[in-house]
Amino acid sequence: MLKKLFFLLALFAFSNAFCQQPSYDLGDDKYKPSMGQSGKDVIWIPTGNELVSKMLKIAKVGPSDLLYDLGAGDGKIAIAAAKEFGARAVGIEYNSDMAALGQRNAERAGVADKVKIIQGDIFKEDFSKATVVTLYLLPELNYQLRPTLLKMKPGTRVVSHAFDMADWRPDGEIDNPAKGYFWIVPANVSGEWVLNNFDSQSGAILNLSQKFQYVGGSITLGGKNQPILNAELKGDRLEFSYIDTMNTLRTIRLTFNESKVRGDENSVYMNREFFGFRR
Ligand SMILES: C[S@@+](CC[C@H](N)C(=O)[O-])C[C@H]1O[C@@H](n2cnc3c(N)ncnc32)[C@H](O)[C@@H]1O
Repeated sequence: MLKKLFFLLALFAFSNAFCQQPSYDLGDDKYKPSMGQSGKDVIWIPTGNELVSKMLKIAKVGPSDLLYDLGAGDGKIAIAAAKEFGARAVGIEYNSDMAALGQRNAERAGVADKVKIIQGDIFKEDFSKATVVTLYLLPELNYQLRPTLLKMKPGTRVVSHAFDMADWRPDGEIDNPAKGYFWIVPANVSGEWVLNNFDSQSGAILNLSQKFQYVGGSITLGGKNQPILNAELKGDRLEFSYIDTMNTLRTIRLTFNESKVRGDENSVYMNREFFGFRR
C-alpha cells in the first residue's frame, strides 16, 4: 500500500502536467476526465506537450513508423505522432470512456485515418508490430513489460516518460522539461558466428557475449584470437574494431538476422562481400 502511494506521489512529482500544460483541454462535452483519476494499473496524468515532442524526436518517429502508446489516456502521444511526424499510431487505453475520447480527439485533430485509440489492456493486447512504443506508466509496469519489449523486432524504439527499465540501461535520455528514457531493442547476437569470405585467405570466427545492447567478445582471424574493440550494438547492427592480419586497425559493421549475419556494404573486406551464420 505504502509502495503504491510512493509510486503515485512519484508520478505526480515527475509529471510536468501542471506547469507545462496551461492550455490543456480536459475532455469534451461527452466526457471530462480528471487529472489523477484512477486507471486499471496506473492513474491518468497526461504527458506535457513539450515532452511529447521530445519523446517522438528522440525516437526519430517518421511516416514509416507504427507507434503504440501503452496506456494512451486521451490519445495525445498517438495523435502527435501522426500529426507532427506523419506516423500511424495506436493507443491502448483500458478506460473505455477515455479510449472513446481519444478517438474523438484524433478525429478533431484530423488524423483519424492514421490513429486508432482502442479500449484494451496493455498486458493482453498484441503490440508486436509496433516500430515505436511509448510509455508513461510506473517502474514496476515497465519492468513487467520489459521481457515483451526485448522480444520485439530488433531496432524497435521504446520511449518512457519518467521511469526507466531497471538494469536495461537507456540508449538516450531526455532531461527537460521532465525525465524521459529511450532504448533501441537489441538483436540477440550472443554465441559463436562463422564469417565466410571475411579475410583475404580464410574466414573468421566471432565469439560474442551480450547483456542487452552491451557486447563483448573475440575474433579469431588467421589463426590468432583477439578481443573485439569498441563494440556498439544498435538494433540489428553491430560495429566493432579489430586488428587485421596486416596489423591494421579495421572497423566493420555487421547486420544480424536471427541465425545469419552479413557485412554491411561499407565494410566489404578486400572487395569481397562476407556473410556468416551462427554455429
Ligand atoms: C499516466 S497516464 C499516461 C497517458 C498517456 N500515455 C500520456 O502520456 O499522456 C496512464 C494511462 O494508462 C491507463 N491504464 C492504466 N492501466 C492500464 C492497462 N492495464 N491497460 C491499458 N491502459 C491502462 C490509464 O487509464 C491512464 O490513462
